[in-house]
Amino acid sequence: MASASKKSVLFVCLGNFCRSPMAEGVFKDMVSQRADKDEWKIDSAGTSDWHEGDNPDERTSATLETKTGHRLDHIGRKITKDDYNKFHYIFGFDESNISNINRRKPAGCQAVIQLLGEFDPQNQRVIEDPYYGDMSEFQRVYNQCSRCLTAFLEKEFS
Ligand code: 4NP
Repeated sequence: MASASKKSVLFVCLGNFCRSPMAEGVFKDMVSQRADKDEWKIDSAGTSDWHEGDNPDERTSATLETKTGHRLDHIGRKITKDDYNKFHYIFGFDESNISNINRRKPAGCQAVIQLLGEFDPQNQRVIEDPYYGDMSEFQRVYNQCSRCLTAFLEKEFS
């Protein structure tokens, strides 16, 4: 199989409910302001099926709406074998996400699998699950995703 375009990013957390939809919304908003916006494929998934079929957590949607002006249109889903060939970058949020992603990886997978936090100029490598926190935890996730994705675009695509 031909390798995926470099302009393809899949965000993967545990539930596809809080962090990965946040990153998807942040990144879609950033890319929508670029001249190459139509060349990108951006999606999110979970390593579990716990929120399959669900809209993102209301606190993720509300944070995105406040910060970007729109809600994310996304239905929760579990990562599939196909995803590993369709996306060049697969970003996890904590070490447990990364080991779950790697465990399911098919042979010959060429995707770059790494912590999104590796790009953080403030060196916070882990983007912790905000599920049991309050709105400030969701704002913290938004800020971490923003910092990392700005740096990612600057490093790889400027
Ligand atoms: P996420 O957070 O991995 O950022 O989507 C979670 C959301 C829900 C649950 C766990 C983590 N849960 O236990 O339902």
